[in-house]
Amino acid sequence: MSNVIGQQLCKVDMEGEELIIPTRYQVEKIIGRGSYGLVCSTRDRVTGKNVALKKNIDIFPRIVSNRTVIKKTRSILTQKRILRELKVLMHLNHPNIVSLKEVIAPISFNDFGDVYFVTDLMEADMRAILSSNQGLSDQHIKYFVYQMLSALAHMHSADILHRDLKPENVLLNADCELRICDFGLSRGVDFEQDPTMSTNYVQTRWYRAPELLLDHATVTKEIDVWSVGCIFGELYGRKVLFQGTSTPNQLMRIIKVLGKPTPADIKGSRSGVEFVNNLSAPENNSESSLWAKRMFPGANPLGLDLLNKMLQFNPDKRITAEDALKHPYFSDLHDPTEVITASEKFDFSFEDTLDSTHAIKTECYNTVIQYCKSHQGRSSNGVLPSVASQNVPGSRGSTTEPQKTQRRSSISSSSSKRTTSPQRKSPANKNRRPSNGGYFDSTSVAKQTLY
Ligand SMILES: Nc1ncnc2c1ncn2[C@@H]1O[C@H](COP(=O)(O)OP(=O)(O)O)[C@@H](O)[C@H]1O
Ligand SMILES: [Mg+2]
Repeated sequence: MSNVIGQQLCKVDMEGEELIIPTRYQVEKIIGRGSYGLVCSTRDRVTGKNVALKKNIDIFPRIVSNRTVIKKTRSILTQKRILRELKVLMHLNHPNIVSLKEVIAPISFNDFGDVYFVTDLMEADMRAILSSNQGLSDQHIKYFVYQMLSALAHMHSADILHRDLKPENVLLNADCELRICDFGLSRGVDFEQDPTMSTNYVQTRWYRAPELLLDHATVTKEIDVWSVGCIFGELYGRKVLFQGTSTPNQLMRIIKVLGKPTPADIKGSRSGVEFVNNLSAPENNSESSLWAKRMFPGANPLGLDLLNKMLQFNPDKRITAEDALKHPYFSDLHDPTEVITASEKFDFSFEDTLDSTHAIKTECYNTVIQYCKSHQGRSSNGVLPSVASQNVPGSRGSTTEPQKTQRRSSISSSSSKRTTSPQRKSPANKNRRPSNGGYFDSTSVAKQTLY
């Protein structure tokens, strides 16, 4: 059995889940389960390295001899989510964002139901660290927040909002290297909230910015800064900062801690603004980090000042990721020449015309095939791939070099302006890591958590 680019495939049973993957991969165990599939730690026999293999299950209907076999196929929203995640990962290139190593081509267009891709394997997610008894020094916290903000500054420079930042989507290694994953909810900048979407919109409430909770018409990059601010507070307090049980309760908890915003600082729908105006709480002084000092008395005052700037109720007053990196809290970490800016904006408009499962499946299939073609050399398992001609509506065929392939190759070589190497493994960067106790005891974390 081989796929459309000629890779030999094998079937693997992993805890009752069937995986159809290239023979170069040896699946070891399931390390994460999400709403649409699972993530397995996997050995790459070609490189000898371990990677993470994500299987998004039954995304598209398979077609068998002109009959559509609907195997628990997903909603159009979910199908778009998977496509979006793939395209965004193909675009981004930053040491604090999971990097795409391979997208696995299907056996055929008709058989294309599951979507598999491979990223770097990380040792734990931040939820696991937060619920372990791993001690976290100020240096740890600072380094984690710095890396999250670096990732944000990069994606925001490409006009990508993550929209689902929470500890489960922040991955860590024992050497404190951090990478953000899960771009399924990402969107372009200044997107307009569709009130009918609010109920479908699944970002975890606890990390949701006030303007999202209040259905403000337009939403900007600062929603992600709020989420990282919530994670920052959680790192200090080792418990969820605002653990609301409903949208109104979430707002009440935020206001109880930060104080009641002035009417000018409330960005939301008319009913949302009224709701906040009617709450009774002491007035918020947006300049002061007193609330944070009371909540985390032993914490670094510079960290608390930054935390307050990240948790501004008014998104217009909230610090941007780029400015946050320059905050004095990071004076020992920040190297202005090291900021990595994406040279190309990401264009989400590809979604506008995708209004049917067939259209999304076709676009996803073409995206996967083009990616595989442009990475043939890198991911080859020794078999020279040739794209079989497929009867795919809208397929650009294999004779002309697809535009997106060209764009991708230029991205891989020069998508980021790097004035210095972004690899934090360089000796200079290594010094910036928390000096030990700085390294996690990954075995103790692992025992209690993921692996
Ligand atoms: N590259 C990776 N390395 C290690 N663990 C990972 C990796 N990617 C995902 N995980 C784990 O799997 C979980 C689910 O993955 P994620 O990409 O967030 O999928 P979902 O969209 O289903 O939430 C994560 O919360 C994390 O625990
Ligand atoms: Mg996730």
